[in-house]
Amino acid sequence: MNRPTRNDMGVVVSRYLSGFGNEHATEALPGALPVGQNSPQKVPYGLYAEQLSGTAFTAPRHANRRSWLYRIRPAALHGAFAPCAHPHFHNRFEELPTPPDQMRWSPFPLPDAPADFVDGIFTIAGNGSAAAQAGCGLYVYACNRPMQDRFFYDADGELVIVPQQGRLRIATELGVLEIEPQQIALVPRGLRFRVELPDGTARGYVGENFGAPLRLPELGPIGSNSLANPRDFEAPAAAYEDIEGEFELIAKFQGALWSAPIDHSPLDVVAWHGSNAPYRYDLRRFNTIGSISYDHPDPSIFTVLTSPSDTPGTANIDFVIFPPRWLVAEHTFRPPWFHRNVMSEFMGLIHGEYDAKDAGAGGGFVPGGISLHNCMSGHGPDAVSHAKAIATNTSRPQHITDTMAFMFESRYVIHPVRQALESPQRQRDYQQCWQGLRKHFDPRQR
Ligand SMILES: [Fe+2]
Repeated sequence: MNRPTRNDMGVVVSRYLSGFGNEHATEALPGALPVGQNSPQKVPYGLYAEQLSGTAFTAPRHANRRSWLYRIRPAALHGAFAPCAHPHFHNRFEELPTPPDQMRWSPFPLPDAPADFVDGIFTIAGNGSAAAQAGCGLYVYACNRPMQDRFFYDADGELVIVPQQGRLRIATELGVLEIEPQQIALVPRGLRFRVELPDGTARGYVGENFGAPLRLPELGPIGSNSLANPRDFEAPAAAYEDIEGEFELIAKFQGALWSAPIDHSPLDVVAWHGSNAPYRYDLRRFNTIGSISYDHPDPSIFTVLTSPSDTPGTANIDFVIFPPRWLVAEHTFRPPWFHRNVMSEFMGLIHGEYDAKDAGAGGGFVPGGISLHNCMSGHGPDAVSHAKAIATNTSRPQHITDTMAFMFESRYVIHPVRQALESPQRQRDYQQCWQGLRKHFDPRQR
């Protein structure tokens, strides 16, 4: 049994439980977890038993997610919700027609006025809807103060939080996740949490998955290991707050925010067990697979997590990364190739330089930036990267270091919202990066 420990200041020191989708069990007080049943007539320590379902009760066993929470007060205890205005955090994905252009944005700045994690969320794009339980919301966040006296939950989808700058301490009902850039956090649909900022400020990306919960991809002939290994996903050990006062509970529900008063901290779960849990994962632990002969495989080989749709092999959303790796394929164009994709691609850069785009050409794709290549929009290396790639001596291996890019890839076209299309961060000259690709064709010379 894992129990959190307290340091000599009485502060809970977080501990983690290893394994994705496992049946975890953890208690912050000895004997708080009922033995042999989920909802006994009387729970130890006078706690309430409550189930948190992440899938339908009848979802197949391998896909089923649920946890049992043993808490000081049930989640039902709060005041009435009222609409809560937020100028930048919404799901109006079809405000403007989506052009088929390739699009790119420079990093969004840190806020001038005080803004916590929820204040600092800015919708970039999305598709589908929470109501349809399909698609995703794609956001950036930039904040400069911790969430104080308020808590958030997202009934619309699970969250993938991708820090680009500054660490986050995410105190959830089930325990505390601490993450830094190149780590991610997964927060299940509906789980209540508060975000604190150990570095004072933070910036990054959020993917909100309206569809089936993200899971590890199948490995097929790769075998039983590699890509993201299950043991590297860490769920938090139980940690609770027993605090009363005047707090706010913010819900995202059907694309809009709502606010309710709550007179206690909802992070009051003393023990829990089950498979529906938040996780952190260090992207640097990803075991990258690639070609050791010629060509390179499709980028699906870099899939960390996938949210399947009803069509086999066609994801509602995939979370994919482009980590440091060796390129050894001979007689091969080594950068990501030119292509048009039936799936739509939203990319961000966490760290370093992305190997299909040259960092020297006036900013381009830099950490904190975004690119969007929708269904059938041609894209690939820029002219500078192409020239380098065709001049590379491929009898020698090439080590790509100092990089960490990611992609949310969806079967549905990703619609940028008005505030993103019209923002000063949008690089209206993005298509220029390909204009230097000259014609080399000569029918007289093979
Ligand atoms: Fe692509």
